[in-house]
Amino acid sequence: MKNDKLKQYFKSEELLGRGIYWVENTVIKTTSNVTKEGKVKVLDELKNEVLRCKKCELHKTRNKVVFGEGNPNCVIMLVGEAPGREEDLQGRPFVGEAGKLLDKMLEAIGFSREDVYIANVLKCRPPGNRDPLPEEIRACKDYLMRQIEIIKPSIILTLGKFATSVILDKSRYEFSRLRGKICDWKGIKVLPTFHPAALLRHRGWKKEAWEHLKLLRRLYDEREERTN
Ligand code: URA
Ligand code: SF4
Repeated sequence: MKNDKLKQYFKSEELLGRGIYWVENTVIKTTSNVTKEGKVKVLDELKNEVLRCKKCELHKTRNKVVFGEGNPNCVIMLVGEAPGREEDLQGRPFVGEAGKLLDKMLEAIGFSREDVYIANVLKCRPPGNRDPLPEEIRACKDYLMRQIEIIKPSIILTLGKFATSVILDKSRYEFSRLRGKICDWKGIKVLPTFHPAALLRHRGWKKEAWEHLKLLRRLYDEREERTN
């Protein structure tokens, strides 16, 4: 890491309440109490960086960057694919038709948007809602990874094949095998499910999606029992 980058990292780590020791240019972290204020501050810093991003061609066609939003102290984080038309106009994730369905899905298992944190793999809209390109995913992935690192959710619900393949580092063709299965990624429980936009197109998939949602609720409740 370059010196200024290292300084910025050091500052962020401090805000996250971690003890840091310097040993010959190596940063050794000790985990400790991460305060909500610390998370908000570091997320804000990251957001400011992403709002200026021009790392891929999508910056030329976007209206607004959609960084993500929600409760930084959440247990459950949701990861979608990329902003659509409405999200691109408002700068907020899942505010169009798919978003309305997502709200209902959360509500059906007793959660609201304020309980979770929602982010996408890509922060800018692909024109015409086309699939994300590999180079766009490569350019943008680090932001999502940093969001996860700051928020430290216990459970991640990946919405659709792109989010699933990026988080679990699998081919997107493995989605059909992985959906509804609890996967471990760096100690986080990852549950792949259908993207709500796909559920709007294929109503027959809703029954299976409901099983995934019930499983999500169960994972959450089991964690609560263990930690209380
Ligand atoms: N689809 C996504 O994947 N993300 C959004 O934010 C909206 C639609
Ligand atoms: Fe940057 Fe991601 Fe937007 Fe591309 S999609 S310009 S990498 S924020």
